[in-house]
Amino acid sequence: MTQHVKTEIAAGIMTMTLARVEKKNALTNDMYRALSDGLERAESDPAIRVVLFQGDGDSFTSGNDIADFSAQADASHSGESQAFRFVLNLGKATRPLIAAVQGNAVGIGTTMLLHCDLVFLAETAKLMTPFVNLALVPEAASTWLLPARVGHVRAYAMFALGEPLDAAAAVACGLANAVVPAADLRARAWQAAESLTKRPAGALSHTKALMRETDKIGAQMSREIELFAERLRSGEAREAFAAFAERRKPDFTNLPSD
Ligand code: COA
Repeated sequence: MTQHVKTEIAAGIMTMTLARVEKKNALTNDMYRALSDGLERAESDPAIRVVLFQGDGDSFTSGNDIADFSAQADASHSGESQAFRFVLNLGKATRPLIAAVQGNAVGIGTTMLLHCDLVFLAETAKLMTPFVNLALVPEAASTWLLPARVGHVRAYAMFALGEPLDAAAAVACGLANAVVPAADLRARAWQAAESLTKRPAGALSHTKALMRETDKIGAQMSREIELFAERLRSGEAREAFAAFAERRKPDFTNLPSD
């Protein structure tokens, strides 16, 4: 059990709070496990009607823990990827998912929002998907879902150049519902969650199912996961992870494109 995800259930709402503030809520395998366990429980427990994601500290999450990426790139690593399990659970979720986001939402921190049904941002929110900077490919079906929301060129700039999207731009292109003052963020998300708990759960889940092509989303996630796992072990990715650990810029110029 990790202490870095706090899971609380009250008033029909499961709140999962990322709480690894000293690392900007970077997600470890154990944290993904806790998030997945929570989502699976929400699917099977009729008392849970809504799931709410939030993060402690000044960042929602800095994305996957890069040291964990490095460990997975090690050929001897054979552990199950809880990150992939989490992504697949997001794709299949039938309960309403809500996110309250402040500060950095990097990588999965942004791509998971594409699976949330209501998203509230503090003015500080900064959405970033710098997968190519880490020599990886995007995940969570974001290669389909992000261009569908923001258009190809903006999505490409986010994936390939790591261009951030600020809170106002994210609302303008339909990635989030509203920008709210940081001090009101949690209350606003909770209020939205509460109002959903009072709606008929059957109608909500059918509506969500009709809005999402879950089979296609699952198939795209599987394609991405296969490539992602391959890229993790590439020489390019080793250089990117080493550069992050050594606090320097990566140098890909003399690497073959493997
Ligand atoms: N994995 C592991 N550690 C991370 C991390 C990550 N994704 N993101 C931040 N950290 C750690 C830093 O190494 C630092 O640790 P230290 O205090 O032991 O040195 C600590 O968290 C604070 O991060 P710092 O970079 O000092 O904070 P910042 O406010 O200047 O910048 C970010 C915040 C999120 C912009 C920056 O940390 C960052 O770019 N992180 C990497 C994001 C990323 O590429 N994620 C993977 C996406 S696929």
